[in-house]
Amino acid sequence: MQRFPAWVVRRSDDDARSRSASLETVDADVLDELAASGSGGDDPDTAVRVDYSSINYKDALALTGVPGVVRRVPLIAGIDLTGVVLSTSDPRWCPGDLVTLNGAGHGESLHGGLAGRAHVDGSRLVRVPAAMTTRHAAAIGTAGFTAALAVRQIEHHGITPASGPVLVTGAAGGLGSLAVSLLARAGYEVTASTGRVATQSGFLRDLGASTVMDRSELSAPGKALQAQRWAAVVDAVGGPTLVNAVAQLRSGGIAAACGNAQSAEFAGSVFPFILRGVTVTGINSVEATRTEREEAWRRLERDIDLSTLDGMTSVVPLSAAREVAERVLSGGVRGRTVIETGG
Ligand SMILES: NC(=O)c1ccc[n+]([C@@H]2O[C@H](COP(=O)([O-])OP(=O)(O)OC[C@H]3O[C@@H](n4cnc5c(N)ncnc54)[C@H](OP(=O)(O)O)[C@@H]3O)[C@@H](O)[C@H]2O)c1
Repeated sequence: MQRFPAWVVRRSDDDARSRSASLETVDADVLDELAASGSGGDDPDTAVRVDYSSINYKDALALTGVPGVVRRVPLIAGIDLTGVVLSTSDPRWCPGDLVTLNGAGHGESLHGGLAGRAHVDGSRLVRVPAAMTTRHAAAIGTAGFTAALAVRQIEHHGITPASGPVLVTGAAGGLGSLAVSLLARAGYEVTASTGRVATQSGFLRDLGASTVMDRSELSAPGKALQAQRWAAVVDAVGGPTLVNAVAQLRSGGIAAACGNAQSAEFAGSVFPFILRGVTVTGINSVEATRTEREEAWRRLERDIDLSTLDGMTSVVPLSAAREVAERVLSGGVRGRTVIETGG
């Protein structure tokens, strides 16, 4: 029987919502058992040897036992995986293909990528772009995939580099730093908002930000309508920051709400909507369609500079995943952390 290492989230006490994660050695059977108990409509027809996963904000919550992300237990954590197809009944794939998968319920209600093996629905997989390794694809991960979906929404709204400056919040985090990079490469004038101006300004300017602002300028409740600054916003933090960013949008501008690192609250005024015709659009990477996944990855292939990506990526072994998770939650991680799974 095949055995492999995996970060498994279990219920930690009598409270149904309690969670704790530990690094275990599990049997391959565990992957099929959960599939048999109902996999939300997915057909796990493809076995993947996982080479790399990554630590996103959601993974950090799952690995430190914060309830809400992992919706069934026991469950292997990890919303991203990249690796090699071992076997499949999906006609799109062959053994040996290099693939990547972001979200789609993995690490939440389906076994995830912080493990040596995964069984997944082949229709959720995207081919690793030819110029990239599986490690590059994991470095991009859900953070970069979501950034690409956000930029796509902004452009579908009609925003171009000529429309004016764009703001990225939570800029030194995974999603934020990849959004800065994608937008700058596409020719936008990017302002990066961060709580770490003193230590991360150079990093953000290297990614292409033309201005770095302290997040304290946005983080406290402000006026309903403020000076019009941004053609568009990619927001990773929610709360008063998003409300202020919306209050600073130019007429007809758009904010892509991606995250809630500051707060899940959105206590704002309708004035920016009814007096400036602005839009707030939500980005949901988990439920993205195959077309959206493939389009986003084509964009990432075109616009992510791999040496820049390498420079913002740390690679650690599977055993270090929880320690990274704790640093993510305390705001101590910059860019992306890839987990080498040893699959
Ligand atoms: N919608 C989706 O499909 C989707 C997909 C991926 C992620 N997300 C969400 O997007 C957010 C970012 O994810 P990530 O993986 O990029 O996480 P991350 O790497 O931990 O980055 C989060 C960043 O948010 C900023 N931040 C943290 N606490 C803050 C606070 N109290 N006030 C203001 N800013 C704060 C920090 O940036 P600075 O140090 O630069 O200030 C931090 O680096 C999370 O909420 C995550 O759940 C959503």
